[in-house]
Amino acid sequence: MTATLAGELPRSVSRTARLRGEPRLPGDKSISHRALLLAALAEGECTIAGAGDGRDVRATAAIVAALGARVERLSDDGLNVDYKVTSPGAEGLHEPDRVLDCRNSGTSLRLCSGVLAGLPFFSVLDGDASLRSRPVARIIEPLRSMGAALFARRSDSLPPLVVIGSRRLRAIDFTTRVPSAQVKSAILLAGLRAEGRTTVREAVATRDHTERMLRSRGIEVRREPEASSGGGPVAWSLEGGARLRSLDERVPADPSAAAFWLVAGAIHPDALLTLRSVGVNPTRRAVIDILRRMGAVIDEAPVGGIDSAATEIGEPLADLTVRSSELRGIDLGGADVAAAIDEIPILCLAATQARGRTTIRGAGELRNKESDRIAGVVAGLTALGARIGADGDDITIDGPTPLVGAATETFDDHRLAMTFAVAGLIASGTTTIDLAESAAVSYPGFFLELEGLTA
Ligand code: S3P
Repeated sequence: MTATLAGELPRSVSRTARLRGEPRLPGDKSISHRALLLAALAEGECTIAGAGDGRDVRATAAIVAALGARVERLSDDGLNVDYKVTSPGAEGLHEPDRVLDCRNSGTSLRLCSGVLAGLPFFSVLDGDASLRSRPVARIIEPLRSMGAALFARRSDSLPPLVVIGSRRLRAIDFTTRVPSAQVKSAILLAGLRAEGRTTVREAVATRDHTERMLRSRGIEVRREPEASSGGGPVAWSLEGGARLRSLDERVPADPSAAAFWLVAGAIHPDALLTLRSVGVNPTRRAVIDILRRMGAVIDEAPVGGIDSAATEIGEPLADLTVRSSELRGIDLGGADVAAAIDEIPILCLAATQARGRTTIRGAGELRNKESDRIAGVVAGLTALGARIGADGDDITIDGPTPLVGAATETFDDHRLAMTFAVAGLIASGTTTIDLAESAAVSYPGFFLELEGLTA
């Protein structure tokens, strides 16, 4: 199987006869970012156990520290870290004395903008070349209408992003133009510091971690309609001015990281993989349900009561077991894409092994991620022999197709690197993955886990 040594680039992955085991997963990236930011807004001490230790979350940890919270790494195991954050609370945070470096992390950029909008000082958010190509107008528009001043490059469309926050924000009632949990969260975080009730309406429900985590910190967050199952239009609102209470919590394992192993197990002819304590929040579990609709055999055993800290933050957990499956093609539309936005590349790989045609419509938001993921996944899987094409924002895949090892290009995008690595487990010969180290953006140790499973 994996032929190269840790740290060497590019990585190569070879077909493996059997795939068995329990790969370790990083803590949920979305929840880890939010836990750090909410800890900075709450006065006192919070511990965050099992935060993902990827580069993105580290970027948020450094930003929180630059704003004046004390961030201690209590322990780490290469994949996850336990943090202790001691904060003077929102009122006690101070103007950063340097540019805030979000690195590759769109979540850091958007969520921090929301926090900074309500803090009365000047800050600049910047990042790497990929981040500098990601849209910020979607954040600037609502936060400006709340009374913060924001400016960005190219007529306010691209980072770096300057935020001059205000102590006196106004509440707004805002409908997002694209389904985006980052935009929704930025507005709600700013809404905490605004006068009046801030409402965010979305046509399709996106991940609701911010809302759940605010509730568990004592903020009354209203949802309409009340039922919290996935799908459909939804409005979230909160009254500004309430104080967050500090909280100790444990971060669930990341379902978006688990997705790589769910697909690996489903498409490999001799596989049995178990994933422990995965977050199965209804707004995050779409990848599991889509794979099941495709015929994947995935068992789900709810984890309850064992990890009381995790249930305290209101996130359901499950142990997932996947085995070799006969997949069939599927039609995915805009709501599926929004619900599984980070899992579309690995679902494309699953579709190459499914009988019949898979269509994924309205996937344009994938072009605004760490790379143009439509172009990247089509090019990479085509190089491996898949029958995949894109027409505008729609992707079509015909299967099943035997994959043939080849060189793949990741565009330094972690989810493309891991998608092509999983493809390498079933492709004949050897698959090479350039800039494979990008996996550490969300999943440090991914290649070590891969080696462990196939050894
Ligand atoms: C995230 C939301 C999604 C997702 C990203 C994490 C979050 O982005 O792609 O990886 O933590 O809120 P958008 O909300 O911009 O689609």
